[in-house]
Amino acid sequence: MSDQNPEAWTHFWRQGHITTFATSFSNNYDGTLGNFWQNYFTNLATHSRILDIACGNGAIAALAAQVSMSQTKEFHICASDLAQIQPPANLERALLDTIDFYPETPAQQQPFPSQSFDAIVSNFGFEYSETPATLKEIKRLLVSQGSFVALCHHTESTLIQQAESDAAIYQAALDTHQLFSTLKTVLRGRASGSTAQNKPSAAFNKKMNAFIGAHGKQPSAKEIIQSISHLARSAAGNPLEVQLANVDDAEKEFTFASRRLQHMQKAALSDAAISQLTTNATELGFAIQVQRPLISTAGQTIAWVWHLTAH
Ligand SMILES: C[S@@+](CC[C@H](N)C(=O)[O-])C[C@H]1O[C@@H](n2cnc3c(N)ncnc32)[C@H](O)[C@@H]1O
Repeated sequence: MSDQNPEAWTHFWRQGHITTFATSFSNNYDGTLGNFWQNYFTNLATHSRILDIACGNGAIAALAAQVSMSQTKEFHICASDLAQIQPPANLERALLDTIDFYPETPAQQQPFPSQSFDAIVSNFGFEYSETPATLKEIKRLLVSQGSFVALCHHTESTLIQQAESDAAIYQAALDTHQLFSTLKTVLRGRASGSTAQNKPSAAFNKKMNAFIGAHGKQPSAKEIIQSISHLARSAAGNPLEVQLANVDDAEKEFTFASRRLQHMQKAALSDAAISQLTTNATELGFAIQVQRPLISTAGQTIAWVWHLTAH
């Protein structure tokens, strides 16, 4: 899968998140995911040159920098992403200063000379790119015996199952029930003072009730309901154009979130895709060291681990 339209990600990273899962991992990845990367970086040699591809706001690069500092590893760390990333100010400055960031950089076309890195890593990123071309690029960039380690979304993982369910809810709010555009009709009716304003209100209430009835218990639906209730309540007292602009902003936010969830679902690797990539990797001269599911402490598959070494 290739994401040629990074706008939704640029929007997300410019909000200052450090990880993709901003509510579950607001400071950086921890638990099973954090431990995985910490162990990996701990086992790398001093002075390793590391590249984090599809790095987002640099969560994994920052974990590498932490290990480098606490264990005096003196890593040289680069991190690139297709989007216009903006590593957040709340991430420790000392860590950020040790990472060279490369925004607007496709995974499959990196600006580094051949054999620049001892290790290339990717956390839920490689699979978003044109994977066969990215594999070739990784092979070009790695030194002999260098390693490529990726945690990828897998079609069977609980994260992807959750993304499917959330994407369906966002789609119901945005497309099926058109909650935001119906709210705008209500606000326009209210502002005009027309006696016919009850009609759009009744239509809006009907749509909201249908949405709540179908999805109301899900956290992502609750988030949408709260946002719409807030927009409706806070509209009074504002000029109509401000009311409408606020609804547009909220709709854009949920549209981008929906798009990111759709990217995530499309990017997820099936067993067949993994098998094809494994063939590609072998043909390129990689040795497959590890390929297995990453299982959380709750016993759920949360990613696919891929560890290759370059001949
Ligand atoms: C799920 S996020 C992962 C970010 C980060 N690695 C993390 O774990 O928080 C996927 C990232 O892939 C990036 N991306 C998508 N297609 C890409 C491509 N072709 N080349 C480089 N980055 C890409 C997106 O901009 C986004 O930042």
